[in-house]
Amino acid sequence: MKQVTYEGLTFEPYIPKSEIDARIAELGKEISRDCADKKPLFLVVLNGAFAFASDLFRACEDIDAEISFIRLQSYEGTSSTGHVKEVLGLHDDIENRTVIIVEDIVDTGNTIYNLMNTLRQHRPADIRIATLLFKPDALVRPVKPDYVGFNIPTKFIIGYGLDLNGLARNLNDIYVLKED
Ligand code: IMP
Ligand code: MG
Repeated sequence: MKQVTYEGLTFEPYIPKSEIDARIAELGKEISRDCADKKPLFLVVLNGAFAFASDLFRACEDIDAEISFIRLQSYEGTSSTGHVKEVLGLHDDIENRTVIIVEDIVDTGNTIYNLMNTLRQHRPADIRIATLLFKPDALVRPVKPDYVGFNIPTKFIIGYGLDLNGLARNLNDIYVLKED
């Protein structure tokens, strides 16, 4: 793995794909054990989580499960509360179902917090959170991911679905912004 550059910023190797694969295999076993008879719905938050979701879902091949994709739209709020997120594409009936939200990264927790509040209005039996990366020190919301690939410090990450202004999602490995 070598350094990569996007928009004048340099990133260095952080988590190789082999380590990501190994960790996802473990998460798959854990989820399969916890949700064996629940027929969970994996709800993938686009765009960032597509790579993780694709691998995680297939790491759960031993159980019955479904997958669906949503997108969140942010608006500049007129009040001081800032961003309001709207859920685009939730066409599934999630009432009484076990829903596993699949995210690429939980940073401040704002995204997932808002999403969970919206989903709860549809009365699912249970909502769980699976995130590839978690920045616990950046968290400002009462959110506790159930399945975490890697806890990381509050640094900017790209690759394996995660982007810098739309770029770098197609990197197989995960990279961290180089500090000089
Ligand atoms: P949160 O709402 O602050 O938890 O942020 C969640 C969203 O911010 C993620 O779904 C990502 O799209 C983006 N994000 C947060 N940290 C990073 C990062 O290190 N690299 C790329 N995107 C990030
Ligand atoms: Mg995201």
